[in-house]
Amino acid sequence: MNGPSKLWGGRFQKPTHELVDQLNASLPFDRRLARHDILGSLAHVTMLARQGIVSREDARAIAHGLRAILREIEEERFDFRLADEDIHLSVERRLRELIGPTAGRLHTARSRNDQVALDFRLWMRDAILELAEGIVEAAQALLDLAEAHQDVVMPGYTHLQRAQPVLLAHHLHAYVAMLERDLARLQELYGRVNRSPLGAGALAGVPYPIDREFVAGLLAMDGILENSIDAVSDRDFALEFLADLSILMAHLSRLAEELVLWSSSEFGFIEFDDAFATGSSIMPQKKNPDVAELLRGKSGRVFGHLIGLLTVLKGLPLAYNKDLQEDKEGVFDAFDTVALLLRVLPPMVRTLRIDRAHLAAAAEASFTLATDIADALVRAGVPFREAHEAVGRLVASCIAKGKTFADLERAELARFHPALATIELPRTAWDAVRAREHPGGTGPMHVGRALSASRGRLSGAREWIGERRRAIDAAFARLLSEELP
Ligand code: ARG
Repeated sequence: MNGPSKLWGGRFQKPTHELVDQLNASLPFDRRLARHDILGSLAHVTMLARQGIVSREDARAIAHGLRAILREIEEERFDFRLADEDIHLSVERRLRELIGPTAGRLHTARSRNDQVALDFRLWMRDAILELAEGIVEAAQALLDLAEAHQDVVMPGYTHLQRAQPVLLAHHLHAYVAMLERDLARLQELYGRVNRSPLGAGALAGVPYPIDREFVAGLLAMDGILENSIDAVSDRDFALEFLADLSILMAHLSRLAEELVLWSSSEFGFIEFDDAFATGSSIMPQKKNPDVAELLRGKSGRVFGHLIGLLTVLKGLPLAYNKDLQEDKEGVFDAFDTVALLLRVLPPMVRTLRIDRAHLAAAAEASFTLATDIADALVRAGVPFREAHEAVGRLVASCIAKGKTFADLERAELARFHPALATIELPRTAWDAVRAREHPGGTGPMHVGRALSASRGRLSGAREWIGERRRAIDAAFARLLSEELP
């Protein structure tokens, strides 16, 4: 009989089929929400006592039991049983074992629907702070590398063809700019995640004089979700989380791809430290960029989780449906994946060896100064299209004769445009780079400024993370102290 075995068994005459138990259970993955589930319950029962919905004595017994369960979980003494179905029912079952029928008062004015939405949001807010910190560290590692190589020029590319000289620091800072936006997206999401759904009940609200704002305050949340139906049924915060991580992974994947290319013999720009490369089981000479390849390849699963959850949500009628239980595994996996990658990235970046000479030679090869020569003509009064055409013919002739610009005398140059005989021409990659001193350009002075501006913003973000962590820790310490309810 389900009666005694399930907390919801009253109206059932038969136990559920064992395969249904297996299918229905979310405990194998939502046990990860245990701590947040208990903290949410502590806040809930504190409010129930304050509002006179349960007696202070019962609330104390419940809170005492919940704290004991949290210790069991943290000390890995807790008995997770698949038959409990999910983390919420596991905790409640254990509470009943510990304190008897009074445990049954905890779920007053609450449903698992608002409870799970709360747990997931509390978990995600921590996850966001951890990822934000990881992004800050990754960006700082890139800044360190850029700052240590401010004197290195390289070819910038379009279509993966050498295009114009740039500073390596400028190229690296492009990734810092992307990571700063990834960080800002998560910071913004934080405000939408950090709202309490508790009080929504199953979907319609609850017939008790609850104080929703008080519960939100106890949990250091920024307020409540206004609509009870929305609070239990939407998972847009989880979609945003996956979308933000997907965009971040798209950025990391592009960086990884460049590092893979640059470490090849074909490019020869960088070498990975031995600690961040692997060997081949058959080819003794190989040094493979596996870490960067996984950084690139693991984007696939994160994107997949986004599409997976979009698909689960699309077409679901309001309000709660069990389909929503499918919201967690992908989010957890995306978090675990990205969190690990963000920890591997900084030491990998910091230990890269940069082949300055090789980069410098490549920066001036393949006629990368052609645009600058055309621009020099323009400054002498030649219309840009005419200059472009003249330099184009010059390049074609050099290619045909196997020469570079540097090999040509003034008289030869004048055959392509008379002005080429008289004007000052850019000769080196540094001439090209120095000519671009404006905000956002690759000029060394402005690149230096951009690097320090990013550094300043990243330390601001660190403070933002610290403030939130301190507020959460203080709220949780209070809930876990014997002072409440
Ligand atoms: N394990 C469930 C989930 O993750 C908890 C909510 C269950 N609610 C319900 N009405 N069956 O979504």
